[in-house]
Amino acid sequence: MSMNQDIQEVLFTPEEIAAANQRLGQQIAHDYQGKNPLLVCVLKGAILFLTDLIRQIPESVEIDFMDVSSYHGGTTSSGDVKIIKDLDVSVAGRDVIFVEDIIDTGNTLKALGDLFASRKAKSVKIVSLVDKPAHRNQSVKADYVGLSCPDKFIVGYGMDYQDRYRNLPYIGVLKPEVYL
Ligand code: PRP
Ligand code: MN
Ligand code: MG
Repeated sequence: MSMNQDIQEVLFTPEEIAAANQRLGQQIAHDYQGKNPLLVCVLKGAILFLTDLIRQIPESVEIDFMDVSSYHGGTTSSGDVKIIKDLDVSVAGRDVIFVEDIIDTGNTLKALGDLFASRKAKSVKIVSLVDKPAHRNQSVKADYVGLSCPDKFIVGYGMDYQDRYRNLPYIGVLKPEVYL
């Protein structure tokens, strides 16, 4: 079963993604020199981004994972954000950077921000590979953004529809007939 035939259009090529990762890595390395930030990967979508991004940061960082889900496999946010797996380490006194593949409604990062407000992190910032501002219903904004995307349902490079397409090396628009 080939995935490529379900893609209407390639929005970002592997080369464009790599260039964004390099730029974001350089910015983070510059801003967090000597701080040993904790990069919190929001599973599952951000996994490819995290692993590529940290290789572009020539400074000491640590990583941990949270599993949060609100799409429950579909194409629109349910607004009901569930914490499925929490961090293993304490964030008290740490400089935390949330690592996301995409910010759409903002529900996921709003829920994480609210949760972290009580955890006494020294600082909390957000890096998102893709920003999709069309359906934002929370006032969250990424501190570092790689790519901006139009109001289309995209998959690939970590992003899924019903848990598939995450392994595409590019980011593409899913043909509507696949989910309608
Ligand atoms: C997707 C995506 C972001 C979030 C963005 O995750 O990876 O984490 O939705 O949407 P929002 O801004 O509207 O909250 P999803 O809930 O599909 O889980 P997944 O990462 O495991 O696919
Ligand atoms: Mn996600
Ligand atoms: Mg998803």
